[in-house]
Amino acid sequence: MTLNKPSVLLTGGAGYIGSHTFVALVEAGYQPVILDDFSNSHPAVLQRLEQLTEQPVICERGNVLDTPWVVEVLQRHRCVAAIHFAGFKAVGESVQKPLMYYQNNVGGLLSLLQAMETTECRSVVFSSSATVYGDPASVPIDEQFPCAPESPYAHTKLMCENILASLRTSDPAWRVGVLRYFNPVGAHPSGLIGEDPSGIPNNLMPYVTQVAVGKRAMVNVFGNDYPTPDGTGVRDYLHVTDLAAGHVAAVSALLAHGKSFTINLGTGEGTSVLEVIQAFERASGRSIPYEFAPRRAGDVAQYFADVSLAGSLLGWRAQCTMDDMCRDSWHWQQRNPEGYRTVTSSPPALQVPVPASSNVSARPAVGM
Ligand code: WQD
Repeated sequence: MTLNKPSVLLTGGAGYIGSHTFVALVEAGYQPVILDDFSNSHPAVLQRLEQLTEQPVICERGNVLDTPWVVEVLQRHRCVAAIHFAGFKAVGESVQKPLMYYQNNVGGLLSLLQAMETTECRSVVFSSSATVYGDPASVPIDEQFPCAPESPYAHTKLMCENILASLRTSDPAWRVGVLRYFNPVGAHPSGLIGEDPSGIPNNLMPYVTQVAVGKRAMVNVFGNDYPTPDGTGVRDYLHVTDLAAGHVAAVSALLAHGKSFTINLGTGEGTSVLEVIQAFERASGRSIPYEFAPRRAGDVAQYFADVSLAGSLLGWRAQCTMDDMCRDSWHWQQRNPEGYRTVTSSPPALQVPVPASSNVSARPAVGM
């Protein structure tokens, strides 16, 4: 642990949101520690993080379900808090493989909390999702809206929120921040880290960027007969660096005053599919071919956040615009056509000495 820099454990910290939060935590004076089994992320991100933060990255390679090992990690780094990102997040896959989702998403949180209890580290930020609201009766959605999850994935998120609420009731020493994300998109402005989905992207923005870079032929727009201004789905897209800043604000608030909270993280504005495509064409200078296709099962027409609570409780508001999100997504995709599998012969953009390889210690994988 770096002298007097508070250590914060990031489970799933090598992933899309976790890696951006890693950078934001370093910039805020924390010492983040990545815990990741790389089942849904790429080790190459560690070297990129070293370039960005200009310091060695502390990474513990293993599975959050291995509770005794998580205890060791928390003790080794004297963590004062944890942010729990680790989890499967594909809505469609959760319908096909519910047991895998419950085991990993709910079991993973239980394992982390048990390890934190053992080491008396009782400040936790949980990566939840706006999908806990299901199909809202109206928009914008505030935190008092009823929760009605419609997929096993969303059920795992709400179940985790309920577990955390029960824990707080049983022991007020626990400090819990629940963050309900809307639609994270974009990438760090450096183009060194970004979203790197494996296979065919489920989500709109990575699909659009792959069309722009020539990896896909065109975008299928799922439905143009929704009750929205242009008939296509409306969502609350949030720049991932704004989302990362929200996590820093959340962990800092818990450590400062200890009051628990559940907060939406979004921009408070809705953008349609066609508006995303038009914004991306402006940002990239590339034409994005698309065709209208049938609605996608499980999609709702409109979905955007009331973000006043994030403002009043954390002093947090999203800063980036849709044009910023498209510009940064395009920059990342251009520099990394194959994501982290891209072999870059050119020198890194930031001419900074790359420290020795990160302090990665590995733990044998544990059966699921
Ligand atoms: C956005 C809009 C689609 C792809 C998902 C997860 C949710 C959360 C955020 C984790 C919709 C349309 C999409 C495409 C399209 N992740 N679309 N063509 O479904 O709002 O939320 O990501 O918490 O769990 O469900 O995001 O990007 O998939 O879709 O027309 O190829 O784009 O119909 O209107 P979604 P998305």
